Amino acid sequence: MTSEIASVSLPDGERIPKLGQGTWEMGEVPTRRAAEIEALRHGVELGMMLIDTAEMYGDGATESLLGDALSGLRDQVFLVSKVYPHNASRRGVIAACEQSLKRLKTDRLDLYLLHWRGSVPLAETVEAFEALRRAGKIRHWGVSNFDTEDMEELVATPGGEACATNQILYNVARRGPEFDLLPWLAARNLPAMAYSPVDHARLPKRSPLDEIADARGVSVFQVALAWVLRAPGVFAIPKAARVEHVRDNYLASQLQLSAAEVAALDAYFKPPRSKRPLEML
Ligand SMILES: NC(=O)c1ccc[n+]([C@@H]2O[C@H](COP(=O)([O-])OP(=O)(O)OC[C@H]3O[C@@H](n4cnc5c(N)ncnc54)[C@H](OP(=O)(O)O)[C@@H]3O)[C@@H](O)[C@H]2O)c1
Repeated sequence: MTSEIASVSLPDGERIPKLGQGTWEMGEVPTRRAAEIEALRHGVELGMMLIDTAEMYGDGATESLLGDALSGLRDQVFLVSKVYPHNASRRGVIAACEQSLKRLKTDRLDLYLLHWRGSVPLAETVEAFEALRRAGKIRHWGVSNFDTEDMEELVATPGGEACATNQILYNVARRGPEFDLLPWLAARNLPAMAYSPVDHARLPKRSPLDEIADARGVSVFQVALAWVLRAPGVFAIPKAARVEHVRDNYLASQLQLSAAEVAALDAYFKPPRSKRPLEML
C-alpha cells in the first residue's frame, strides 16, 4: 500500500504530483540501461509519473531510453522535454520537437521547456510553442533557468502569459530563488519545478541534515528532498537510477519536517536576505 503524493496545480488547474523523476545522465552507459529502466518504471508505479528529460541529455540517448522505458506506460506519464536555446527559433523548435517525439516514441509532450535563455528572441520561441500547442504536439510549454527579469520579459512578450512553469535550480543548499523569484512565480500562480533537489548528490557534509536524518532513521537525501517538497507551489524532479533511491525518494514525499527541524536547517542554510543571481547547473 502506498500513500498518494501531494500535488501542485499548473496555471490552467491541471494537477500534477509534487514529486517526479529526472533523467539527466541516464541512457548514456549501455550496461546501466536495464537498471535505469527498472528504476523509472518503479517510480511511475509509486506515483512519480512526471518525468523530465531534454534533447541535450546524452545527445538524444536519454530520450531514446525513455522511449523504451515508457512502453505501455505512456498514458500514465506526464512527459517533459526541453529544447536547446540554439534550436529555439520559429522553425528550430518545431524540428527539435519532432525529433524528441520520435526518440520518445510518442505523439505528444505534456510540457515542453526552453532549456535556458539564448540569443533567439523570446517572441519567436513563444510563437513556435503556441504553434506546437495548436497542432496537439505539446500540451503545455514553459521555461527553465529564467531569473525574475527574464520572467518579466517573458510575460510582457505576446503569448508569454501562457507559460506553465519555470524549472530552476533549487534545494536546501541553494536558496537564492526564495528572495524574489519564488514569490514572483507564486503571485502569478506559476509553480516552480525544482531541479537538482538533492544538489546533484553534493549536499554538504556534517550539517543539520545529518542530525535530522540520524534522529529519524532516514538518509540526508530524504531530508533534503522533504525540505524542498514542503514549499508550496514547488515540485521536484530528483534523478535516481537505482530502485532503492527511487523508493527512498517516494518515502521522502511522505516525510513531514517539524518546525524545529526546519528552524535548524534555516540556521545553517540561511535564507537569502538580498538578491542572488539565479544559479544554473
Ligand atoms: N533545467 C536544467 O538546466 C537542469 C539542470 C540539472 C538538472 N535538471 C533536471 O533535474 C533532474 C535532477 O537533477 P540532478 O540529476 O542534477 O540532481 P539530483 O536529482 O539532485 O541528484 C541526482 C543524484 O543524487 C542521487 N540520489 C537521488 N536520490 C537519492 C537518494 N534517495 N539516496 C541517495 N542518492 C540519491 C542519484 O544517484 P543514482 O542516480 O545513483 O540513484 C544521483 O547521483 C535531472 O536529472 C534533470 O532531469 C535540469
